Amino acid sequence: MSVPEAAMIGEGAAVQSGIDEIIAGRFACRDFSGAPVGRGTIEQILRVARFAPSGANIQPWHVYVLAGDAKDRVSAALREAHETAREAHVSEYSYYASDLPEPYLQRRQQFGRLFYRSLGIAQTDIEARSAQTAKNYAFFGAPVGLIVTIDRRLEVGSWLDLGMFVQNVLLAAAGHGLQSCPQETFSRYHRILRPLLSIPAEQMVVCGVSIGRARDQIAGRLMPRADVADFASFAGFEDQSATQIERTRPWEAETS
Ligand SMILES: Cc1cc2nc3c(=O)[nH]c(=O)nc-3n(C[C@H](O)[C@H](O)[C@H](O)COP(=O)(O)O)c2cc1C
Repeated sequence: MSVPEAAMIGEGAAVQSGIDEIIAGRFACRDFSGAPVGRGTIEQILRVARFAPSGANIQPWHVYVLAGDAKDRVSAALREAHETAREAHVSEYSYYASDLPEPYLQRRQQFGRLFYRSLGIAQTDIEARSAQTAKNYAFFGAPVGLIVTIDRRLEVGSWLDLGMFVQNVLLAAAGHGLQSCPQETFSRYHRILRPLLSIPAEQMVVCGVSIGRARDQIAGRLMPRADVADFASFAGFEDQSATQIERTRPWEAETS
């Protein structure tokens, strides 16, 4: 087995390999071209996403895949509810802490500033913000929408597993040149989604995912990230310089 080749990199460079490129190239796309994506591609995305790890391999995910008329029916029902009866619908779970502590609060505020500025919407313009929220329910114009559910009898650990599965879906989509947007907003309308999609009572609607081609392929990521030093602490490493990065892929090392 060959010794892994190490590479010097510039400080802060995020992309060092094909998988790095896919992870760093994914962004929450909110404007899709609408160009169709075939069932075969979506099945392949799910086929690979199912290799997500899960505690004791229980694989606690369930996905409703929508396109065409089926997606349009869901969109129409949710848009109507958003227009007329928004307050009558609440998610079955809390996504955000009601009292966000720092540094999360200021990150959320920064998100709001960057997001609405990019859309030319004043943060005080409630009507324009609501119109933007409504676009969620049209899957932002994407040709394919997923509704992701989990069995409510499972515990919080299984939600970790589900998150890994959803991320795999986003990355596998990116591997096919597709963009995506995970959307917790769908959980609010579980009472509408349940009969429309025949979701059994024990399943809780967790989120939606829009998948398609970004209208602007080079739009890219809008949201910044905290530095590694802000969320990771290191102990016990011999090399303190952090300039050496393993590059050889294990399967290449086996054959060389
Ligand atoms: C579980 C989850 C739910 C989300 N829900 C929504 C949503 O309902 N609507 C939306 O526009 N974006 C939603 N997002 C996208 C986030 O706003 C986005 O991931 C974040 O701002 C970081 O931006 P990036 O993904 O482009 O890097 C969600 C993201 C995650 C992971």
